[in-house]
Amino acid sequence: MKIVGICASPRGRKSRTLAVVSAVLESAGTRGADVETIDIAARDIGFCDACDTCHRTGTCWKDDDFSAVLEVVKGADGVVLGSPVYIDNVSGQMKAFMDRMADAIHYQVLSGKYGCSVSSTWESGGNEVTRVLDHFLHYLGAQTIEGLAVPLGDREEVPGSALQEAGKRGEALVDAIKTRTHFPDQERWIAENRDFFETIVSSHKKERPDEYALWVQRGWIRE
Ligand SMILES: Cc1cc2nc3c(=O)[nH]c(=O)nc-3n(C[C@H](O)[C@H](O)[C@H](O)COP(=O)(O)O)c2cc1C
Repeated sequence: MKIVGICASPRGRKSRTLAVVSAVLESAGTRGADVETIDIAARDIGFCDACDTCHRTGTCWKDDDFSAVLEVVKGADGVVLGSPVYIDNVSGQMKAFMDRMADAIHYQVLSGKYGCSVSSTWESGGNEVTRVLDHFLHYLGAQTIEGLAVPLGDREEVPGSALQEAGKRGEALVDAIKTRTHFPDQERWIAENRDFFETIVSSHKKERPDEYALWVQRGWIRE
C-alpha cells in the first residue's frame, strides 16, 4: 500500500502543515503503508495555461516537475493533501497544482482510491480549506476520510493533541484502503460527476483511445 502526502506550504521544514501531514503519514507508515512526502512548494510547478494540450494528448507540454508528481499520485492507493490557509483558501502553490490536474480529473485518475485533507491556520478558514481539498479529491474520483483542520495561533510547534488527531487520520486512511470502505454520499456524487466527464472522454475518443477503452472496460461508457 502506497500513501503519498502532498504539502503546499512554502515554509519548508518550519511548516506546521507539513508537521500535520507528516504525522498522518507516520501513523500510516507504522500500519504498513509505504509513505512518501512531496513538498510541492519546493518543486517547479507552473500555472496552467489553459492551452488544452493535456486534454488532447494526455500530457502537459510544460517541462517542469508536475508530470513527475502526477505519476507518484497515480501510483498511490491513498493521497494526503495539506495546505496552509491563505485568505481562507488554499495556498497559491496548492491551487497551481490543482489547476494542472484538470485532465487527471477528467480521466478520474484516483477512482477507487482514498484521500485525507489537512490544513493549518492561525485561526480562520481551516474547515473551508479541508472542504476545498476534499472536493478536489472527489473530483479526481477518490473517496475521503474525515479531514483535519488545525488552528494554531502563534505557536511554532503543532501541539501533541493535534498530532495525535493526525495519527488517527493515518490509521483511518489505512483502514479505508484495506477494507475498501464505502462512503455512499461521496460515491453518488463521484458517479454523477463521472457521467458528466463521459461526454469529454467520448469526444476525445480518437486522440485518447487508451483512456476511452479503459472507460468502456470499467463500464463508465456504454457503447
Ligand atoms: C499569505 C497568508 C495568508 C494567510 N491567511 C490566513 C487566514 O486567512 N486566516 C488565518 O487564520 N490564518 C492565515 N494565515 C496564517 C497561516 O494559515 C498559518 O500560519 C498556517 O499555519 C501556516 O502554515 P505553514 O506553517 O504550513 O506554512 C495566512 C498566512 C499567510 C502567509
